[in-house]
Amino acid sequence: MRKIVHLSDLHFGRVDESLVGPLVSAVNEAGPSLVVVSGDVTQRARAAQFREARAFLDRLPRPQVVVPGNHDVPLWDVLARFRSPLEKFRRHVEDDLEPFYEDEEMVVAGVNTARSLTRKYGRVNVRQVERLRERLCSYGDRVVKVVVTHHPFDLPPGHDEREIVGRAAMAMEAFASCGADLLLAGHLHVGHAGHTAERYQIGNHSALFVQAGTATSTRVRGDESNSFNVIRVKRPHIQVERRVWQPEARSFKHGPAETFRRTPDGWARLTDEVAAGVTFDEDGAGLQPNIPARAADA
Ligand SMILES: [Fe+2]
Ligand SMILES: [Fe+2]
Repeated sequence: MRKIVHLSDLHFGRVDESLVGPLVSAVNEAGPSLVVVSGDVTQRARAAQFREARAFLDRLPRPQVVVPGNHDVPLWDVLARFRSPLEKFRRHVEDDLEPFYEDEEMVVAGVNTARSLTRKYGRVNVRQVERLRERLCSYGDRVVKVVVTHHPFDLPPGHDEREIVGRAAMAMEAFASCGADLLLAGHLHVGHAGHTAERYQIGNHSALFVQAGTATSTRVRGDESNSFNVIRVKRPHIQVERRVWQPEARSFKHGPAETFRRTPDGWARLTDEVAAGVTFDEDGAGLQPNIPARAADA
């Protein structure tokens, strides 16, 4: 079994400081095989905000796959926005804009969807999709294939269609050809899990798309609480459990969990009754050694 802690939309510069410590504890206690952060690590892409984000990430287990979001591109500094939009992200957070993780049970590919030309919407391009296809197709279907972006490929009900990452249909064709299983994203500040077969009819491909809410930001949507996801991966099952901030308890509590199974028609949600019979081997989570933090950049 593998366990992914999926965080998103940290928005350093506009975080609720009271939940940072409890979040670090909750993530470490979860004992993840991998920590994923699906973008918007800062509020306004300022160096000090990136330094705070870096200090936070250094308190979490590794390995980590971190991708940028639209807030990690400078908004007001027009020169930086167009000349070197992700320079600070790359310097402080992650130099590789296509981070990749692999082990015997899963592969995880991060992709940058943040762009200079659009203020908040994102897109993927042909080169990125071809690179993903090359990477994911080189693995057989014995491993679970995961893609991490900031902007989502699919939406929970009630969201503006423009929130979907540009050229998503092209990317979904590639994902279908390589059997991508799990699409992790953020941006909406809403936690959700569903399958893509309703929006995209591509053969019998049905990936699982999972949104993480904002883990630390004060920019929560509606009555959403701060949250993150703990995702257990053990083929043919994936369980998505939300951990939800409870201010009275000053901790992240276990929230609802949904379990999905890979069928010949792709990933499908199990009923609670059937899901209750599915067990995950907690001891097999395999917490990776905490690699020493890299030297802080100037
Ligand atoms: Fe965000
Ligand atoms: Fe965003």
